[in-house]
Amino acid sequence: MDQVDKSNLPRHIAIIMDGNGRWAQNHSLGRIAGHRKGTESVRSIVEACRRIGITYLTLYAFSSENWSRPEKEVNALMALLERYLKSELKTMTKNSIRLLAIGETGALPSRVRGVLDETIAKTAGNTEMTLILALNYGSHDEILQAVRKIAEDAKMGVIESPAITEESFADYLHTKGIPDPDLLIRTSGEYRLSNFLLWQMAYTEFYFTETLWPDFREEQLIEAILEYQKRERRFGLTSDQLQKKRS
Ligand code: FPP
Repeated sequence: MDQVDKSNLPRHIAIIMDGNGRWAQNHSLGRIAGHRKGTESVRSIVEACRRIGITYLTLYAFSSENWSRPEKEVNALMALLERYLKSELKTMTKNSIRLLAIGETGALPSRVRGVLDETIAKTAGNTEMTLILALNYGSHDEILQAVRKIAEDAKMGVIESPAITEESFADYLHTKGIPDPDLLIRTSGEYRLSNFLLWQMAYTEFYFTETLWPDFREEQLIEAILEYQKRERRFGLTSDQLQKKRS
């Protein structure tokens, strides 16, 4: 942690947690045991981010496509989520972590929705870090919903075409008010975005690692942050322009 430059931290880290199934297979265990172990990584990474000083962390916990998995696995993931939320409220309160969710959370089982809404409400005043869980989330769907809502607002005269800017469009997304991710991490050697935060990641730095999610802990997180700190983020400018802008 000492090697991390605190003056150049990614403000927002987004993670595609992948490889629970393969981890389980490598350990001759069932897939659900992999998700259980993956939940330990969630705990460890949330705590590490808080310690390091990351202010936003988004975790892709359940995609809208994940419903097609075997029913037993979907149920186990929902149960793990419910248990995680119940068990973490105390830590979130102690560490001043606010919980938010993006995605179609209305379609989650009512028990999960209940504990999710309760945790969001109980942590709403926390200010040190925001943990965002992407649940039943899909980026295409999010963008389409935003477009539909803008079309309705335009019809009602709430917004006019010239006022549809990058900034005002972003306000129609689930991530309204959340800064775009600076760093995306995907574990398990997969090189895809899988319908995750497509609008929000236009200028995000990508970091891919072979490590499977259940093995991804503070040490691996620090490696990712150190790699991020070596990169030059130009936002479409040349290096020279960037230097001048900074000086
Ligand atoms: C991908 O691994 C992982 C998921 C689809 C779910 C992630 C869920 C957790 C880490 C646990 C519950 C979440 C929280 C926030 C408590 P995979 O099953 O696709 O792995 P594979 O590609 O190796 O099969």
